[in-house]
Order: sequence, then structure tokens, then C-alpha cells
Amino acid sequence: MKLSWITDIHLNFLNSFDRQNFYQKLANNNTDAVLISGDIADALTVSDILIEITQYVDKPIYFILGNHDYYHGSVAKLRKSISNLCQQYDQLHWLPQSKGVALTQDVLLLGEDCWADGRYGNYSNSSVTLNDSRMIKELHEGSILGKYQLLKAMQKLADSDADHLKVNLESAICRYHPKKLIILIHIPPFVESCMHEGQISDDNYLPFFSSKVTGDVLLNSARQNPEIEFLVLCGHTHSESYHQPLPNLTVKAGSSEYMFPEIQEIIRI
Ligand SMILES: [Fe+2]
Repeated sequence: MKLSWITDIHLNFLNSFDRQNFYQKLANNNTDAVLISGDIADALTVSDILIEITQYVDKPIYFILGNHDYYHGSVAKLRKSISNLCQQYDQLHWLPQSKGVALTQDVLLLGEDCWADGRYGNYSNSSVTLNDSRMIKELHEGSILGKYQLLKAMQKLADSDADHLKVNLESAICRYHPKKLIILIHIPPFVESCMHEGQISDDNYLPFFSSKVTGDVLLNSARQNPEIEFLVLCGHTHSESYHQPLPNLTVKAGSSEYMFPEIQEIIRI
């Protein structure tokens, strides 16, 4: 079985002709399914774009949402509408709501959106402000939040998704006894996965580009299940990285460029 992994494609910035060209590449590359590790579009366009993908690509689309997918919207509202969308379109699978997808007898697919949690790097001294704090309802609440109110709101989202991932991991491992797990998340879970121009992101950016709470869930699960191979695919930084914190835990972050979506990797299982 072959899977097309794509990430941070930001298709809302492309015109319809360029989007169709990209869909043709996905449709004709002789793979069996598509994996998307977030930042497909924004909250105003992501549903229509997902439907559009199904019109050109006759394969299952397994995806999670990234922070940009929530821009101009709210996390709670968009999750509800994406969940409804997936009930209407058999091809679309938002992974946080499935309890694990058995791709083969041995390989199980899971996913969680996941959020940056400000726990790596130096949040207190960081001068970085992402658009997240203006464009996503839960991180804005009608006016720009104070620095530590924002941190609390970021951690609420990050901790909730990490908890959900933990529960889904435990129940899926119990139920399927897989030999290999493929896990899609948007935010890199380790410092070493957050590259920028060939180097690990600095303390200024790390709070917004990494999710320690997610990394801790992955480390614990991989330690408790040494017989299972964990492959984690993420995005967000637009910079490629490869990190193996444990012999059975590998994390890949994908590279991407605005306006030029590409297939990141063909994954053979
Ligand atoms: Fe992102």
C-alpha cells in the first residue's frame, strides 16, 4: 500500500486552475490514499476545498486540521462542521474523530490536530506574535488577549488535544495490536523537529512552533509499547526535519512553500 503525505498546502491561496493541477498530481501518482497533516486552507474555505479534492482525487483522504484551518473561525464551530462534512462524504476522514483506521492488518493510522503550548523555548521573553491570536476565536475572544491569558488559552487547546490523542492511542493499541502506528499531528512535538533555515528554531519561536505536551504523550506511549513502531508526521514549520528520540519513535516534519503545494513523500507500508 502506498500513501501520499502532504502538509501545509494552504490551497486557499491558489486559484482554481492551480488547485486542479495539484489534485491531478494526487490523483495520478499511483497511491492508495492521501494523508494531510494540517493547514489545508482556512475556516472559510476548508470545507469547500475538501469537497473539491474528493471531486478530483478518487482515494480516501485522511486529514487533521492545522492552526491556519481555524483562521476566521472558531475551533468548536469548525470541528462540528468538519465532523458533519465527513458524515456526508465517505472519502473524507478527519482523524481525531475516528478511533484509529486500520490501513493494513499491521498498520494503524491515528491523528490529532494538536496546538503549540508555549512550553519549549522562552515564552516570557518571546517577542513573537502569530496571527493565531487575532484570527482564531478561542485565542482572541473579542480582543487581543494579554500575554499570559494567551498562553493559558494556547495550553487549554494543546492539553485537550494531547489528552484526546492519549486516550485514542491507548484504546486503539488495545483494540488492534498494531505493529506500526502512523500518527498525523500538525505541530512538531519536539524541539529537534522545529527547524528553520537549517537550524533548530530559537527560544523566541519555539513556544509557538512546538507542542511539548503532545511530545510527552508520544514518548510515554512509545516507551510503554516498545514492540510497536511509531511514525509521526507533522508540519507547521514548513521546514523538513527528521528526529528519532527513541528507537521505536520517528518524527518527520514536512517542508512546504506558500503557493507551491507538493507531495511531501510517498509512504510505503
Ligand atoms: Fe501551521
